[in-house]
Order: sequence, then structure tokens, then C-alpha cells
Amino acid sequence: MAFLPANAGHLPATRNPEFEELSRLNECIQTRFLSRTSFGMNRIAAQHHGARTFHPENAGESALVDRIRKKGYELAVFLAGRSVLEAPLPLGVQGPAFVTNLRDAKQLPGPDTLLPQSRAALASFQTGDGYDIRMGDWTVAMRPLRASNKSCIACHNARASRLGVQIGDALGVVMYVFRPVKPN
Ligand code: HEC
Repeated sequence: MAFLPANAGHLPATRNPEFEELSRLNECIQTRFLSRTSFGMNRIAAQHHGARTFHPENAGESALVDRIRKKGYELAVFLAGRSVLEAPLPLGVQGPAFVTNLRDAKQLPGPDTLLPQSRAALASFQTGDGYDIRMGDWTVAMRPLRASNKSCIACHNARASRLGVQIGDALGVVMYVFRPVKPN
């Protein structure tokens, strides 16, 4: 698979201005990390018969998923925490969770393929709200999940204190993997 160089770190983020639904979806998912009903990947999608599917929790989220589908994108989400920076890897990259149906899920980059990308993202997220990379005809939008308040750090304490995580640091990265259903 061909990679364009990850424009990680200090370069300006490349964005797809046509696809503002992605920003809305990211806002929904960021908000879920503030609630305490479930944790980690389960905040994005619960496992059901081995597959994970993003379940809209309100009318706004349902409408959003509809718009993504109608715009003609297929989209799945992966999640990585700071454990991907350590070895051995107890969790690795988690996912996919399907936001839309995929024509052929086997064509999606897998968790192992995304591992180096998630490491590069976590190592480079100093400020800002992420960047996009290309993998074949997929775009991968890397978005930091920051320790936005003390409770994030309190709960992630054992690991966070070892790593010196402070408010504002990235505890994880959400990866939105998408492409137009009919590539131009
Ligand atoms: C009440 C405790 C608690 C709070 C508060 C909390 N988390 Fe977590 N978080 C967890 C647990 C437990 C897991 C592991 C869940 C699993 O996958 O089994 C987790 C998993 C994660 C993961 C997935 C990768 C990993 O490290 O396991 C990320 C990223 C994450 N949390 C970020 C955050 C952020 C950002 C906040 C604050 C906005 C936050 N968490 C607040 C308990 C918490």
C-alpha cells in the first residue's frame, strides 16, 4: 500500500473542506469521552456479534450519519491510546467501528496498518486538532483526544502519571478512515 508522507507535527493540517460532517462527527465522539457510562472504544461503539457499529444517540447524530451516507462516503473509526507508544502492546489500535456500511470491509486499512500512523500522531500532537493522511484511496483523519479535564487524568492516573500526562496532552487518537463510495 502506498503512503503519502504523514504531514505530522508542525505542518498545517490538510483538511477536506467539502466534508464538514467529519468535524461534527468528531465533536460527537469527543463529547462521548466526557460522559462516564462506558469507556474507551465502548464510548464510540459497543461490540455486537464481533462487529462494532457506531450507534447514533440522538436525532442530531442520526441525521449526521445520514448526511455522511448521502454525501457518498463510506467511513469507519479506529481508536488508539498511549499504550501504542509502549511495548508490549496490550491493546494496540482498536476498531474498526463502522459509521456507514462498507462495500468491502476487507479493503479498509487494518489496525496493524494504522499502528505506525497512530504512534506518529500521538508523538506529534503538541497543539492543534490533528491532520489528515492518505492511504491508497482512503483518507485517514487523525484527531487527538486530549485530557481536557482533571478527571481524564485521575482515571488514567497509573499510566498518565508515569508518562507525565498533563491537561491538554493527547491521551489517544481517533482515526476516521473514509473514501467516496465511487472514487473519481
Ligand atoms: C471514570 C474513569 C475515566 C474517565 C473520567 C476517563 N477515562 Fe478514558 N478510559 C477509562 C477506562 C477504564 C478505559 C479503558 C476501557 C477499555 O477499553 O477497556 C479508558 C480508555 C480510554 C481511551 C482508549 C485507549 C486507552 O488508553 O485505553 C482513551 C483514548 C481515553 N480513555 C481517553 C480519555 C479522555 C480524553 C478522557 C477525558 C475527556 C477520559 N478518557 C476520561 C476510564 C476513564
